[in-house]
Amino acid sequence: MIRTEILKAENLENALRRSREVLLSGGLVAFPTETVYGLGGNALDPEASRKIYAAKGRPSDNPLIVHVGRKEDVEPLVRGISKEAEQLMDAFWPGPLTIILPKSGLVPMETTGGLQTVALRMPSHPFANAMLLSCGCPVAAPSANRSGRPSTTRFSHVLEDLNGRTELLIDAGDVPIGVESTIIDLCGEAPMLLRPGKITLEELSSVIGPVKEDPAVLSKNIIAHTAEAARPKAPGMKYRHYAPRAVMWIVSGTASETAAAINELAGPRIGILTVEEHKDLYRSGQILSAGSLGIPESIAHTLFACLRAFDELGVEKIFSEDFSEAEVGAAVMNRLLKAAGGNEVPASELKVRAEEKAEQENQ
Ligand code: TXA
Ligand code: MG
Repeated sequence: MIRTEILKAENLENALRRSREVLLSGGLVAFPTETVYGLGGNALDPEASRKIYAAKGRPSDNPLIVHVGRKEDVEPLVRGISKEAEQLMDAFWPGPLTIILPKSGLVPMETTGGLQTVALRMPSHPFANAMLLSCGCPVAAPSANRSGRPSTTRFSHVLEDLNGRTELLIDAGDVPIGVESTIIDLCGEAPMLLRPGKITLEELSSVIGPVKEDPAVLSKNIIAHTAEAARPKAPGMKYRHYAPRAVMWIVSGTASETAAAINELAGPRIGILTVEEHKDLYRSGQILSAGSLGIPESIAHTLFACLRAFDELGVEKIFSEDFSEAEVGAAVMNRLLKAAGGNEVPASELKVRAEEKAEQENQ
């Protein structure tokens, strides 16, 4: 156990000073970004990166994202900045876009999980940005959750996962976006989307032309524990992720079909993930609304908090509606499918199972 200091981001001067001291002395700081909380260490210090893996309980072949405070800070970390990289940085930084480029000798292999490439991001959260400018070193930071757990979007989640494992935690309340940054790989022949996020494929293409999608990102390829189904380019994508403790199913169909099918299985130990527009369709169970269909950003914002809330409610099974994949919805469905280990079932099939189950119980 490490003694963990907790500071509010609004006490800006003190929080920045302590963050700087901790980072420059090789310690770890959990800090807010606009996407999710990050668990940061000095990206140029191999020992700090080792500490990050240990604190998260994360496999050390899963590379870390390096955060910078200014575009100029990228140059020493990479072997050249391509025209596409320049265009993307100009269009989307600071903001929720991570760009992968060939790394320079300055970035230790411990930070990149043994890869010759480095993932770079300039966050727009005011605290993150001020912290990066004040500490003057690039900061390696994965999401601030224990490995395999949903990413942290509220300070209480950070506390739950990292209290006693990290020198300093910065409390900035809820983060605005709620799903991790979009990742684009510019090291191959064509730009490749490795992880969907708030910045969409279409937005990227509008700046640099055609962008391919890593087959591992497509929802049909997110199948439970079958790593061979699609070998992911982002090593992190091969691990079971964002997972609540309960078994989870995503139920597809119209709202009324889905609700009818789920209602037949629902009970006090069943979690139901729905939206404001549909929540009144459910009769029993632990019903959580992730947001509003009309505001896809609201679902992204609340998704991980709902997954954690189901754990606290002690549910045995979670049934989730499936949501539109438009805009940030692509990121939402990507994370949901991963949380469900690829379990997706049409409402019609769930209903048959419900009827079978009811019959068994009646006998
Ligand atoms: O929004 C975010 O990106 C948050 C905040 C804290 O910035 N960070 C985050 O980091 O989500 P993490 O470690 O949870 O996810 C990073 C993902 C992993 O899937 C990892 O495998 C991939 O990025 N990645 C990192 N470096 C890479 C590289 N050089 N090549 C391919 N994938 C890489
Ligand atoms: Mg993560």
